Amino acid sequence: MVAMVIFLELVLLATTGCSVAHPGETHLPTSDLTADGGGTNFRRKRHAEVPRYNRSGGFNEYEATLLLEKHNEYRAMENASNMWIMEWNTYLQRSAQNYADKCNFDHSSASYRANIGGYKVGENIHLANYKLLVTRPATSWYSEKRFYRYYHATAKCEPKKTCGHYKQLVWYNSHALGCGIKFCESVENAGPEYNNSYLVVCHYGPNGNFRFAWPYRKGEPCSECDKNITPYCIRGLCSPWPDETPENAIEAASGSENFTAQLNIIVLMLTSLATLKLT
Ligand SMILES: *[C@@H]1O[C@H](CO)[C@@H](O)[C@H](O)[C@H]1NC(C)=O
Ligand SMILES: *[C@@H]1O[C@H](CO)[C@@H](O)[C@H](O)[C@H]1NC(C)=O
Ligand SMILES: *[C@@H]1O[C@H](CO)[C@@H](O)[C@H](O)[C@H]1NC(C)=O
Ligand SMILES: *[C@@H]1O[C@H](CO)[C@@H](O)[C@H](O)[C@H]1NC(C)=O
Repeated sequence: MVAMVIFLELVLLATTGCSVAHPGETHLPTSDLTADGGGTNFRRKRHAEVPRYNRSGGFNEYEATLLLEKHNEYRAMENASNMWIMEWNTYLQRSAQNYADKCNFDHSSASYRANIGGYKVGENIHLANYKLLVTRPATSWYSEKRFYRYYHATAKCEPKKTCGHYKQLVWYNSHALGCGIKFCESVENAGPEYNNSYLVVCHYGPNGNFRFAWPYRKGEPCSECDKNITPYCIRGLCSPWPDETPENAIEAASGSENFTAQLNIIVLMLTSLATLKLT
């Protein structure tokens, strides 16, 4: 008798407090992280192996760095002319962790996200019932790129498809990132197949993913950075800080993400009401 294990994932997004009809640790690792007045700039180690999350407690600094860099790697791949580099933000990490701790697969309220560390924040949520790679939420969200039609006049997703997580991930000026993770024995607003799952919440400041707006402008990378705020160009991303030091140079992701080892049989993408703010 072969035991059939089904790995499931769900995702959720919100930018401006949309409510979702239906669509997964315990303490904040703030002691792991150094607050520097709102942003902590992590540097990824060379040849980093991406671990699976297999413990309690929120993301540690190493895991946070990997998840952050996955975001930046994807952002750089867009060849945008005005894309900001993302930095880890401990306020957003705290808000995301506090919300993840609730084990509720639904969005936090708009008022909860109205002012976190000075930002109105967007929110992506990922729920997985297996020990996911710490970069998996970003990979999952970015995979919605295939449903996004950049050249379509309305800048929308393909009909009946979800691409909002992708749009938030690559939103040009969403430059502050903080994420939390919680192991949940049961998850509100998710079925019993998500008992004992991992709920990941990421907060993005400022929020993006506005309806009928493009997430970034295509063009020569860094050619349209705001030189007053982001005078530097790091791997094609507009940055307020000069480049990394060579010994800490960030490399493109290693090929360590191995999804073939997982039975990702079902990936359910649930669309939020996406009542995204009109711009
Ligand atoms: C979690 O993963 C790390 C790195 O792969 C490993 O060293 C550690 O033993 C694992 N811990 C548990 C509780 O499985
Ligand atoms: C971005 O630019 C690089 C180098 O010119 C090119 O290889 C790559 O295909 C481009 N990617 C996209 C998504 O346009
Ligand atoms: C899932 O958790 C709920 C709440 O604790 C419990 O009532 C239910 O029996 C669990 N279901 C399974 C399949 O373990
Ligand atoms: C991925 O995992 C599968 C199954 O464990 C293994 O056969 C394969 O060689 C792995 N691929 C990589 C690139 O590590």
